[in-house]
Amino acid sequence: MKKASFVVMASLMAAAAAAQMGGSPSPEAPASPAAKPAAPKATTGPVTRAVAVLHPAKDGKVEGTLTFAKATPGLKVTGRISGLPAGTHGFHIHEFGDCSAADFSSAGGHYNPTSHQHAGPAEARRHIGDMGNIEAGADGVASVDYTDPRLRLEGAHGILGRGVIVHANPDDFKTQPTGNAGGRAACGVIGVAKAE
Ligand code: CU
Ligand code: ZN
Repeated sequence: MKKASFVVMASLMAAAAAAQMGGSPSPEAPASPAAKPAAPKATTGPVTRAVAVLHPAKDGKVEGTLTFAKATPGLKVTGRISGLPAGTHGFHIHEFGDCSAADFSSAGGHYNPTSHQHAGPAEARRHIGDMGNIEAGADGVASVDYTDPRLRLEGAHGILGRGVIVHANPDDFKTQPTGNAGGRAACGVIGVAKAE
């Protein structure tokens, strides 16, 4: 019995594969309409919320969590980052969600799908990833709470799956292409979060 149902499943899958490829169903596939595989039930809609958990660079202690929630327009970015030297630190979305290199160079440069120059977050022409700076207090904690009209979760400028980097130094909004923000103190990957 188990084996028989496996065979039916296998031929259904073959038929589905053939249909997807635009070919005709294989001869051994069931011909009756009742045997057609049901259309897959949609389990995902547009993503409305994403999260990035930031991990420290080797021998560092900068860590935290950022949340990106759909706003009108753009995304509301909130979170808390700790372990920072007091003061201003550049933070950006980088092209790759790859924090595997010890110095986080694997995250690539600032996410820049529109081929603009590096700038501050308030500029219309900027890297999409240019979120500007965060400010850490004497306790080493920076709270983030701002809405960025140019960020999108999905689509041509989507940030899902890309990287977030917190830097050692301030972003000057001028130096190309990095803002002269120095080393990479923390890195996280932007992933799909459960909608609220
Ligand atoms: Cu950066
Ligand atoms: Zn930039």
